[in-house]
Amino acid sequence: MKTLEPFDKIIFVTRPVFPTIEEVTEKLQDIWNSKWLTNNGPQHTMLERELKNFLKVPHLSLFNNGTIALMVACQSLRLSGSVITTPFTFAATPHVLSWNNITPIFCDIDAETMNIDAEKIESMITPQTTAILAVHVFGTPCDVEKIQEIADRYGLRVIYDAAHAFGVEIDNQGIGNFGDVSMFSFHATKLYHTVEGGALVMKNEHVKQRIDLLKNFGIKNEEEVVMPGINGKLDEVRAAVGRIMLNYVDGERQKRFLLKKIYDEELSDVEGLKLMPRCAADVKLNYQYYVVRVDEKIFGRSRDFVHDEFKNFNVYTRKYFHPLCSEYTCYRQLNSSSPANLPAANVIGRQVLSLPMYGDLTEDDVRKICAILKSFRR
Ligand SMILES: Cc1ncc(COP(=O)(O)O)c(C=O)c1O
Repeated sequence: MKTLEPFDKIIFVTRPVFPTIEEVTEKLQDIWNSKWLTNNGPQHTMLERELKNFLKVPHLSLFNNGTIALMVACQSLRLSGSVITTPFTFAATPHVLSWNNITPIFCDIDAETMNIDAEKIESMITPQTTAILAVHVFGTPCDVEKIQEIADRYGLRVIYDAAHAFGVEIDNQGIGNFGDVSMFSFHATKLYHTVEGGALVMKNEHVKQRIDLLKNFGIKNEEEVVMPGINGKLDEVRAAVGRIMLNYVDGERQKRFLLKKIYDEELSDVEGLKLMPRCAADVKLNYQYYVVRVDEKIFGRSRDFVHDEFKNFNVYTRKYFHPLCSEYTCYRQLNSSSPANLPAANVIGRQVLSLPMYGDLTEDDVRKICAILKSFRR
């Protein structure tokens, strides 16, 4: 067999999608002509409308990033006490609870979808619980029906961290239609981005009004400041980039879909590798990530070995999400962080590895990444 050579250049786990410089320059000229840089300018207004249509949601409010958006979501629903969430997520998810003086209660995840295990939520509810904050991890939808059913029965609010789920749909409904409020992140590494940015989407017009106040210091008008708000505003330059990027998202999604098919084809028969979950036929995915789980006992090598060894081939994968949030020094003292409470999350956190996924990768790149991965097997 031909020996595998390292890539000439580093292959990172992802790479932002760049619009052409000409498109950006043209939009910048519009902004310069308008003399309007931030605070609900024309680009902002147009992007809110365009995104609302794209995501098929009734109301949307733009933000300067997803984390501030999620902070405001908690404020808008007046959450307090404790909120049930997942340990298998990015740091921002539990941190927004802490910043709102709310205790995160970690619930175990489903071994297949890697999302919060809806079957276990009920046993975690206490009199202090005010909401469920679930994450559509890697764009796979949570069990939205079961979660809503539990929330309704116990009078809890539901917030979705949909940072990974831009453009995901269930039965032609935008993923943002589930729960009280959902957050999207438009960080540069996401399928769709505004360099930095984010949005909240909500069913209720009153919630949108409250959110719009909260993200602008609580300023109602020149004379009245009605609540302690924050600065969550998205500026005109990023909003303009976001308008351009809307033209790229379908193409980028399609490119990633083709790469996903190659990954699946190359890796589905490899013993000891578990691929991404299959979703119901009515789910439209976004293919933002490609994640495998390495079962050391069967693959003969650990996830950490694979991650480190890949670097010798100039391939930079990511242990996403490791460590679990329940393992952070700021959360590990919580009762719910005990590994006995989180058996599936603790196994998956040690197995999961995000492989390179972005539209500029070629089919040959992906086949080579797969060949390298397969060569590690013992
Ligand atoms: C699951 C999840 N939640 C929240 C965030 C935070 O979003 P932002 O970076 O836009 O603040 C991210 C990623 O960046 C994320 O992956």
